[in-house]
This record gives sequence, C-alpha cells and structure tokens, in this order.
Amino acid sequence: MNWLSIKGLQKKYELEDMDVDALNGIDMEIEQGGFIVIVGRSGSGKTTLLRILAGLEQQTEGRIIFKGSVCDSEHPLPVGMVFQEPRLLPWLSVENNILFPFHPEGRAKDLHSKAISLLKMLGLEGYENAMPHQLSGGMAQRVALGRALSCDPEIVLLDEPLGALDYFTRRALQRELARIYMEGGKTFLMVTHDVGEALRLGTRVIVLKKGKIEASIPIGLEYPRDRHCETFQTLLDEVLAALDDL
Ligand SMILES: Nc1ncnc2c1ncn2[C@@H]1O[C@H](COP(=O)(O)OP(=O)(O)OP(=O)(O)O)[C@@H](O)[C@H]1O
Ligand SMILES: [Mg+2]
Repeated sequence: MNWLSIKGLQKKYELEDMDVDALNGIDMEIEQGGFIVIVGRSGSGKTTLLRILAGLEQQTEGRIIFKGSVCDSEHPLPVGMVFQEPRLLPWLSVENNILFPFHPEGRAKDLHSKAISLLKMLGLEGYENAMPHQLSGGMAQRVALGRALSCDPEIVLLDEPLGALDYFTRRALQRELARIYMEGGKTFLMVTHDVGEALRLGTRVIVLKKGKIEASIPIGLEYPRDRHCETFQTLLDEVLAALDDL
C-alpha cells in the first residue's frame, strides 16, 4: 500500500468569461518521510495543488488516498501549512499564535511547554510574549512554521515560505528547515521558485508545467549539501532543463 497517492487530480476554475485548468491530471506517489519540493513557473498550479492537499480547495476530479483511505472534508490529510507570508494574528502573542490551532479553553498546561520547546527549536527562545509587530520577517515566518508544527502533523505543506526573505535569512532558514526535517520524521511538501533551494532541501524535486508533472527527479544527496559538487550541478541542470519551455 502506498502511503500517500494523488490520482488524476484536476482543478478547473470557472471564471465569468473563461475556464482555467489549473491542474490537468496530477498523479503522484509520496513516500513517507520524504522532502518533496515542487518547482514550476508562475501559474503552473503549485499553490492550487497544496491548497487542495490542505483541504482549502476542492478538486474538480481525482482522488487523494492516504494510508489506503480516500480523503475528503470529513477525513482531511493531517497537514500543517505555511504560506508565503506569515499570516500571524496581530492581536495574539507569539506563544498564542503558535498554539492557535488549539482551542484556548481547556488548553492543557503542557501546551505551554510545547510552545516553549518549539520556540527553542526555531531559535526564538524568550520571544513567547512578543507581539507579531515586534518581529522581523524571518522571525515571523519561524513563528508561522511553529504554528504549522504545533499540532504535530504528519505532513508539512510549505508554499514559498522563504520567498519574501533576504538572502542571508533565507539561507539560515533553509538550514533550519533541513534540520527540522531530519529531526522530526515528518513528510515535507514545499513549493519554491528557487531551484538552488529545491536542490539544497529536496529528496525529490517535482517540476510542474501547466498543471502537469513534467519531471520527478530524486535527489540522493546527504545534508548539508555542497552546491559546488558535480552531482549537485548535474541535478540542477536537469531541473532547469525540465523547467525550460524551449
Ligand atoms: N481562486 C482562483 N480563481 C480562479 N483562478 C485561479 C484561482 N486560483 C488560482 N487560479 C488560476 O489557476 C492557475 C494556477 O494558479 P496557482 O496559484 O496554483 O499557480 P502557482 O504555480 O502557485 O503560481 P505562482 O508561482 O505565481 O504562485 C493560474 O492560472 C491562476 O490564475
Ligand atoms: Mg503560488
């Protein structure tokens, strides 16, 4: 039995004067514990795919099968999601943003220690009482990651989580994502525009083109990855070639 299968996934958006085929038949097998990175040009359907997996959008056709059962609104995938922008609630402290998925009433005491240990893991020790406006963009995105991890989801969905960050913060958070991935035993699905980032983090890179999978490239390199090594460069060229329209 496959762990997570996506079969014939299609998504059609019906606009007033035209239809948009955002996904045109996606078939994918996702291995447990993998770090799947999805790359593709703007409009290729990356966000649509993640939103359907998160249950935020309904597919037009196709099925998602998790551990042998079909997913639907009553049986959603166990995911935590990080968006391109942190989307923190400005009136809640860092700790309460992280614990937002839990209902405040009846919040067990051990949730406080959960938030504290997540903050420690994310390099934000001591910031539990800070408010979102007191954080830098990189810190806010770490809190968003903490919120996605707080429910201990089996699958972490990341939609260009580092897209808005400067080069150095981005590199630092890439290293942290690799560390969290290796520590946590979770399955990651991340969208990025940055092919170098895809190669630094992914155990597999999926290239989406016009709502279809153009290529699925396994990356069998150890972490941390050396972008100067020959295999890294060869794989980078392979991903770039798959992305190329010519
Ligand atoms: N809510 C919506 N209503 C109508 N069309 C939509 C909607 N969401 C997405 N689309 C269309 O579906 C297609 C795929 O969009 P999607 O956001 O998945 O692309 P993407 O690969 O994430 O692009 P980007 O890299 O720019 O974020 C696009 O043509 C887009 O216009
Ligand atoms: Mg997108």
